[in-house]
Amino acid sequence: MRVFEETARSSECAARAGRLHTVHGEVPTPAFMPVGTQATVKSLTPEDLHGLGARILLGNTYHLYLRPGHERIRRLGGLHRFMGWDGPILTDSGGFQVYSLAALARIEEEGAVFRSHVDGSLHRLTPELAVEVQEALGSDVMMCLDTCIPYPAGEAEVARASGLTTRWAARCLAARRRPELRLFGIVQGGMDPVWRRRSAEELAALGFDGYALGGLSVGEPKALMLEMVETARPCLPADRPVYAMGVGTPEDLVECVARGVDLFDCVLPTRNARNGQLFTSFGRIVIKNARYKEDPGPVDPACTCYTCRHFSRAYLRHLFVARELLAYRLNTIHNLHYFLELMRRMREAIERDAFEAFRRDFYQRREGTP
Ligand code: GUN
Ligand code: ZN
Repeated sequence: MRVFEETARSSECAARAGRLHTVHGEVPTPAFMPVGTQATVKSLTPEDLHGLGARILLGNTYHLYLRPGHERIRRLGGLHRFMGWDGPILTDSGGFQVYSLAALARIEEEGAVFRSHVDGSLHRLTPELAVEVQEALGSDVMMCLDTCIPYPAGEAEVARASGLTTRWAARCLAARRRPELRLFGIVQGGMDPVWRRRSAEELAALGFDGYALGGLSVGEPKALMLEMVETARPCLPADRPVYAMGVGTPEDLVECVARGVDLFDCVLPTRNARNGQLFTSFGRIVIKNARYKEDPGPVDPACTCYTCRHFSRAYLRHLFVARELLAYRLNTIHNLHYFLELMRRMREAIERDAFEAFRRDFYQRREGTP
């Protein structure tokens, strides 16, 4: 089974549409993966996610390894059965989560040594263990263990982390026991074009099912992030999917799709929903704002989600201010609908070879206020 096929390509930019094939079905790309860190997309059921048009979810090796444990999930039939989601799942390897969540993270040649953020226990996550955990989960797309670089970083730090990421990627390939599960390499290289290119070329030479761009959205200016995407993208094979990890805002998604990226994940729609920040065709709104106290209209008049079809801004504000559980659920439904619909519209625009017209319209709508 081929991992990826391109079905349409823009004549105006590098945007393309395609299909990612996995053992749990195919995913039309460009695609956004809702984040289901703890084997759940917070506040939603798998049925909700299917209804919203999600085709692939993201899970986290780091969290599931620590709790409830990958061996327990394996005994219970794998992650799909455990969480009741029958579509594709991509799992992150844990490299980024060790770096951002764990206490006392120390990076050694052998692996990452860290203390659990749950109970303080000491662990060593090696490339081999990252693959073993992801295979136990039954992940459709596994990610190599990588090392993240903070921004800004000096050249010595960039060089060390990028070199180690390539050596760990080779060890992940060698550790793999289930070839039907896809394995993606992760490009690092900080914000240095030379190291970015080198990292992409080294990974491409190893030969992965797909490639991710890591170390992005770590506090760098937007233009620099896009420059790194433009630098690395041409060094990766055209017949493989490319995934921008942890990206991004709606604008980032549009700009990365224009530069040839196929897959995305980000906590923004789900996390911001729980903080009361809602994405709309005209920009973001903060639902607790007093101006919505008696606003009978929907969050976004252009939105067709369950939340916008049934509830007013005034009601959503009330739920949020009263900390009612339904607030998190309704806000998450709306925000994910917005992100997934944005991706669907980009796919459709690419198929009609009208991506630039879509992009202009996208920015024009944000200039007007409701
Ligand atoms: N999620 C967001 N950025 C990264 C990254 O650089 N590496 C990994 N493994 N996950 C990420
Ligand atoms: Zn809506």
